[in-house]
Amino acid sequence: SVLEMEVEQINKGHYEHYMQKEIHEQPESLTTTMRGRLIRRGSSKSKSVLLGGLKDHLKTIRRSRRIVFIGCGTSYNAALAARPILEELSGVPVTMEIASDLLDREGPIYREDTAVFVSQSGETADTLLALQYALDNGALCVGITNTVGSAIARNTHCGVHINAGAEIGVASTKAYTSQIVVMAMLALAIGGDTISNQARREAIVDGLYDLPNKVREVLELDQEMKDLANLLIAEQSLLVFGRGYNYATALEGALKVKEVALMHSEGILAGEMKHGPLALVDENLPIVVIATHDACFSKQQSVIQQLHARRGRLIVMCSKGDAASVCPGESCRAIEVPQVVDCLQPVINVVPLQLLAYHLTVLRGFNVDQPRNLAKSVTTQ
Ligand code: G6P
Repeated sequence: SVLEMEVEQINKGHYEHYMQKEIHEQPESLTTTMRGRLIRRGSSKSKSVLLGGLKDHLKTIRRSRRIVFIGCGTSYNAALAARPILEELSGVPVTMEIASDLLDREGPIYREDTAVFVSQSGETADTLLALQYALDNGALCVGITNTVGSAIARNTHCGVHINAGAEIGVASTKAYTSQIVVMAMLALAIGGDTISNQARREAIVDGLYDLPNKVREVLELDQEMKDLANLLIAEQSLLVFGRGYNYATALEGALKVKEVALMHSEGILAGEMKHGPLALVDENLPIVVIATHDACFSKQQSVIQQLHARRGRLIVMCSKGDAASVCPGESCRAIEVPQVVDCLQPVINVVPLQLLAYHLTVLRGFNVDQPRNLAKSVTTQ
């Protein structure tokens, strides 16, 4: 009806689509996610986080034999992005499960496990069934959702709300970045406050404080991503190479492109390049390589060299100021992004790919907010 259409326009503000609005409101949604949860005591005592919904269970989580992340789609990717920092700070082995696959295998879940269920809606059928399965097996179950009162929030033992605000676009954007931030805070909360990791913890807390500003900065790439989308508009396929903290960024960037722009796209773990993907490389197939500064940087530089040697059509995402040194040739295009502490870099790096997917979709004439065949919340198996 006309009224519904008017209400919708009011909700979208000056944006044309919800996905666009949700991408651009990430500085605000991330601020809300962190509100009241970061502690920066002035003097000697180290910086920290406070997650009210977990505080009575932190001891049990620290003592667990394993932390298992369980989710679907973008929520799974967010957990994958947070896995390295959780492993580093907690010292507990962290494993990953796609909810449906855990159920298909009836994989082992034990009483000594902490199972963390990540779901924007809190209602995804597969994730909910995996939760029931983990409860039956006696694991401590933690929920990370965006929806207060959702089934996953109600049925887990404890949890954290990401507080990103309602997400309407079927393709998840702001929930993804807020999920990563919550899981980075979870890593800080679980990881003990030892002298040896104090500097590291402080760098992460400082990084969290400054993150909304850095996201605002990376959003300035909007026009550049629109130009890139114009170049890629008629492509059949797009590969995205990442590793380490940004393996998840590769998967999530590719997921955005395929789900909304309806273009085949694949996120590839760069360390696996020689075991298959290299066969696809030629002068036509566009390839995004994520090569921002972190411990994997030199390995990514060598990946870029090898792709270039096979005349790959390269688009390199690098840290600000690195374009000239990271791009191997004239034909290579660079996306320069602000640098943040390594474990939060996935929050920055996904934004240009969200923008790219958004513009590709609009330019290709597809429905941005309700992609063909997909639903916001998949409540059937
Ligand atoms: C659907 C949505 C995705 C979402 C996934 C998991 O496939 O289209 O955007 O990532 O479900 O949803 P959840 O609500 O559990 O995060």
